[in-house]
Amino acid sequence: FFARPWVFIRGVPSMKFLPPEGPPEVAFAGRSNVGKSSLINGIVSQKGLARTSNTPGRTQELNYFVPDGFTGEGDDLPPIALVDMPGYGYAKAPKEQVDAWTKLVFDYLRGRATLKRVFVLIDARHGIKSNDQDVMALLDKAAVSYQIVLTKADKISALALPKLEAATRELIRKRPAAFPEIIATSSEKGEGLDRVQAVIADFARE
Ligand code: GTP
Ligand code: MG
Repeated sequence: FFARPWVFIRGVPSMKFLPPEGPPEVAFAGRSNVGKSSLINGIVSQKGLARTSNTPGRTQELNYFVPDGFTGEGDDLPPIALVDMPGYGYAKAPKEQVDAWTKLVFDYLRGRATLKRVFVLIDARHGIKSNDQDVMALLDKAAVSYQIVLTKADKISALALPKLEAATRELIRKRPAAFPEIIATSSEKGEGLDRVQAVIADFARE
């Protein structure tokens, strides 16, 4: 299904607009501007599918993307849905707005039965920050499986990358819901995207 065109099906501004639970969902979480939307575009090979921007705070709703060609009615459900999320942390938006996005992200992450895995994206230049720790603590508590994806690997040196991977592995070692494999990616260069695809494919329905 990565070879199919993908489509945007719904933007969810608050929990009451969530679609009924259907296909398995894989979500992309991370600080503002870490590269969530770019990673989704990279793995489906569609540059303009999820909107990206230089300015933190681009994605403002939970955005659902699915492979095209499924009505969503009855048994005709897509095999998987990808959920792009607003970033947490810094954003060029009023505080109430940022707080509302953060609440939406946290509420969704802790309360969605069909959520199979959360990719927690970490900027390779910055490493894990305290609000990333908050999200991981919430996922641990809710027993939602998550996996670290390092982004913008093209922005750091080939020597720094393995060091960052080792330091990150050490930080998540004792976290119960953390999946041990860390994936380093560059959406810019197309690196590591096949590994993200493989994880997603594992959760898709037959
Ligand atoms: P919000 O929706 O605002 O939370 O941001 P986001 O996490 O969705 O980030 P987005 O994908 O919009 O990317 C933010 C910026 O980082 C854009 O200018 C992208 O072009 C850039 N970017 C994303 N991925 C990469 C990457 O792998 N390498 C480089 N060099 N830049 C990247
Ligand atoms: Mg975005």
